[in-house]
Amino acid sequence: MPASLHALLPDAAVVDLAAYTDAGGGRGLERALEIGPDATIEEVRRSGLRGRGGAGFPTGTKWSSVAEAAQEGGTTYVACNAAEGEPGTFKDRALMARNPYRLVEGVLIAKHAVGAPRAFIAVKERFTHERQRVVDARDAAVAAGWEGADELKVVFGPDEYLFGEESAMLEVIEGKLPLPRIMPPYQAGLFATMGSPNPTVVNNVETLSNVPSILAEGAEAFRAVGTEEAPGTMVFTVVGDVETPGVYELPLGTSLRTLVCEIAGAEDPQAIISGVSNTVITPDLLDLPLDFDSFAEAGSGMGSGGFMVYGAQRDMVQVAATLARFLAIESCGQCLACKLGTGAMWEHLDRLVAGDGDDTDIQELRNHTQTVTDGNRCYLPVGAALLIRSFLIEFGDAFTARIGSPSTAEPVPVPKLLDVDPVTGEVTYDPEYHRKRADWSYAETDGG
Ligand SMILES: Cc1cc2nc3c(=O)[nH]c(=O)nc-3n(C[C@H](O)[C@H](O)[C@H](O)COP(=O)(O)O)c2cc1C
Ligand code: SF4
Repeated sequence: MPASLHALLPDAAVVDLAAYTDAGGGRGLERALEIGPDATIEEVRRSGLRGRGGAGFPTGTKWSSVAEAAQEGGTTYVACNAAEGEPGTFKDRALMARNPYRLVEGVLIAKHAVGAPRAFIAVKERFTHERQRVVDARDAAVAAGWEGADELKVVFGPDEYLFGEESAMLEVIEGKLPLPRIMPPYQAGLFATMGSPNPTVVNNVETLSNVPSILAEGAEAFRAVGTEEAPGTMVFTVVGDVETPGVYELPLGTSLRTLVCEIAGAEDPQAIISGVSNTVITPDLLDLPLDFDSFAEAGSGMGSGGFMVYGAQRDMVQVAATLARFLAIESCGQCLACKLGTGAMWEHLDRLVAGDGDDTDIQELRNHTQTVTDGNRCYLPVGAALLIRSFLIEFGDAFTARIGSPSTAEPVPVPKLLDVDPVTGEVTYDPEYHRKRADWSYAETDGG
């Protein structure tokens, strides 16, 4: 009897394809090939799987809209988003390092389901270990004769945050810079031309890693864990002011308190952010169940399940300034209101942190959260507005207290993660990031 495939994140890395197939791997792709594309999509739809890349969009719905184009004679593609750039998140790298075979199988099932002649896994070049694991898994799948594996390409991309934005990722796969497009991938996909829109499925690593067991063991088995509207487990990252940071797989519906306080050992969390695209989460929300709809009803979002925790010792103005700097730097500048607005937010926050700010800075900051989204191509400034406005609302007194009074708190690291040790949970923040400039170049010296 093969082991159940439902745990996404094995304790130890799966060493090779034989170890994966011995544990039941490969059965999902076999079943998908047996039942055909329509029934494969139906199984994924019935499972209730929702995207783990940030928005929680139903995967079956995404696949069926793209598959329709293939049925009408069009070309389709599949692209796996392995860019993992959301601050505070490390789960995709953990999944790729520990079981890349499962990801490769998930991508091949998606490729078959939407009738795509080719599929891509787009991963950051900087993730040296993880990308090698994925390349090895892909090569092993080709050698083992897995259907479609020879038409699966692993593409290496840049370190920029926007590489993970789905339309920018298509640009990178096409050999260009990570600049978001006007049209989403399901409307204008890879290598699209006027007469050939080539709708493309873009799915996150964790989303696709869920697919093999859904096919192998059925939608009902998948639904046995999690909640009705958010079935399955999710792989969460917790870093910041906690005792035991790390990457944890838990059933959806588990409370945020269980994850952050009981498992990760946060003693006095005052602010929690789930990446930089949602409002700040305050301690009164700790009993929220970890599921997409509960977070949305509370006015926030789970993002890609990465939580950065800030304790009572933190200066929340400094936290907001650190996050605003990240967003201002990563904005690509195709939309003026976004680049200028995020830059201005960063400047006003820096003035407040330095004790040089006044009421006008706070007012201007508030104004920029209203206008930064004007004419936006992508979601980055929407997230920026939500996040910074929520800090102003939740920590208004801290902002007023900074007028004429420089921050004396310890500097806050940019939660851009380089590593989370799987054994010790030790977190390494990107030591180069403080040198990154708003034009994406790097200063040669700390001061430059
Ligand atoms: C600025 C920005 C950065 C993003 N970065 C990532 C990322 O690193 N990884 C990811 O999977 N999704 C990222 N997303 C979300 C993707 O655009 C897309 O929604 C997701 O890959 C869809 O996969 P899913 O349906 O499986 O969740 C980002 C979105 C934005 C706006
Ligand atoms: S909204 Fe901002 S990040 Fe997105 S494309 Fe426009 S300038 Fe670039």
